[in-house]
Amino acid sequence: TDLFAPGRRNSQGLDLTDAGDLLKIETARADARDTRFEAAPLLAGKAEGAAPTPCRNPAAPEDLTGTLREATPRDVETALAAAAPWDAAPGIRAATLLRAADLYEENTGPILALLAREAGKTLADGVGELREAVDFLRYYSAGIVDLPHPAQGVFTCISPWNFPLAIFTGQIAAALAAGNGVLAKPAEQTPLIAAFATRLLHEAGVPTHALQLLPGAGQSVGAALTGDARVAGVCFTGSTETALSIRRQMAAHMAPGAPLIAETGGLNVMVVDSTALPEQAVRDILASAFQSAGQRCSALRCLYLQEDVAPAILKMLTEAMQELRLGDPWDLATDIGPVIDAGAREDMATYIATAESEGRLIAHLPAPGSGHFIGPAILRVNGIGDLEREVFGPVLHVATFRAGDLPKVVAAINATGYGLTFGLHSRIDSRVQDVVGRLNVGNIYVNRNQIGAVVGSQPFGGEGLSGTGPKAGGPDYLRRFTRPGAPLGAP
Ligand code: NAD
Ligand code: ALA
Repeated sequence: TDLFAPGRRNSQGLDLTDAGDLLKIETARADARDTRFEAAPLLAGKAEGAAPTPCRNPAAPEDLTGTLREATPRDVETALAAAAPWDAAPGIRAATLLRAADLYEENTGPILALLAREAGKTLADGVGELREAVDFLRYYSAGIVDLPHPAQGVFTCISPWNFPLAIFTGQIAAALAAGNGVLAKPAEQTPLIAAFATRLLHEAGVPTHALQLLPGAGQSVGAALTGDARVAGVCFTGSTETALSIRRQMAAHMAPGAPLIAETGGLNVMVVDSTALPEQAVRDILASAFQSAGQRCSALRCLYLQEDVAPAILKMLTEAMQELRLGDPWDLATDIGPVIDAGAREDMATYIATAESEGRLIAHLPAPGSGHFIGPAILRVNGIGDLEREVFGPVLHVATFRAGDLPKVVAAINATGYGLTFGLHSRIDSRVQDVVGRLNVGNIYVNRNQIGAVVGSQPFGGEGLSGTGPKAGGPDYLRRFTRPGAPLGAP
């Protein structure tokens, strides 16, 4: 149940240990194996659409997943001209979002197929992502009743490829719940999932003037939708660099007070001290660093091991890592799917090869020969200060620290300017309280993994370079999509 909306329950989703649910998944796989999906601008007016281009499966690029027609400049203008707030009564908006949540669940089969075939999501990740998307719809629907202010107008929602359903849906659901219209620009890599979800939202009853989809490039379509005075605010999730570009675009063209709600990247650390339970720590390190092929903003990037336990934990970690299986995301035995595209694979391969040439490679698993796979790698560093950027894949950096140097580790984390997630494995309560109190980090996890925040229980969002707040899936989020100071019913 929910901390902030008592009585509301999160989606149960599918259980991958239940024979009945597994049968449903197998049936869905058979049904969707050869389906070709389509993405195109979905507008209130007539869409033009560019020439179709093929979309491919990152695990098996010979698998044609569908076709994409990008939004043209004329489509962008058509959408901007037609966009308007969703003026339905609060009760209608709430019921419509709840209907959309049900439709998502009824379409579990094709959605899991799309998440695997377009985004390379393993079954466990796909089930989790669908559940999160449904939770966002129901959570923000429940929040409508408490809104004290009217909508802002029209929001542009710009989403990343790594949560192509959950984040895409969460942004839109929040903006719509508050009564705004939405112009949605999904990531270049995942337009098919976005188009499928948009059609479900329309089928649920969201009018087309209140939700239009404009697939296309960030530099063209994204820039046009975040640099236009007809847009009241922007909700963005993606890299910190892109958030800064969007801020500049908004400053040049939009009202000075136009809100930017940005959730961005992280340089996330976990500290394991000598009182930690090694088996538990190793399990949580593997999940935090390598689940979803490390393609989570929350993923662990730099592990600090206390010097006296470091050799033993590192040995257990590298041995346990050998058991991870890379392969077909739809195979239940697969732990790690592909990275998103050839560019991401090349970037990781070069990064790991450079570390190897510098004598810093501790362990690296081989990857399947075809598809955009990269074996998880563990690299040695002196500390978080050595990381020049967020390496967005299955690459874990490891450093050691002396017992008395924990305050220096905390200072080094704060000095990065990022503050998204942090993990601590320790059984000393006073140490936990002290470290937690000193860190400028949004989501802190103690004696568990540091990924997979749960809507309504663990509001998610970062500090500093990691985001503007308010946290998604938390009680403050919806209000940012409303006009502070204006009473309900104001024009
Ligand atoms: P990205 O910044 O490259 O792209 C994100 C979106 O921005 C895409 O839709 C892209 O087309 C669009 N875009 C690019 N340039 C633009 C511009 N000039 N104007 C408007 N839109 C533009 O990020 P990505 O590679 O898709 O996603 C990975 C990044 O997202 C990582 O940095 C990750 O940490 C971050 N992320 C953060 C969170 C969070 O909640 N904090 C969640 C998921 C991902
Ligand atoms: N909300 C996602 C997580 O916590 C990014 O892993």
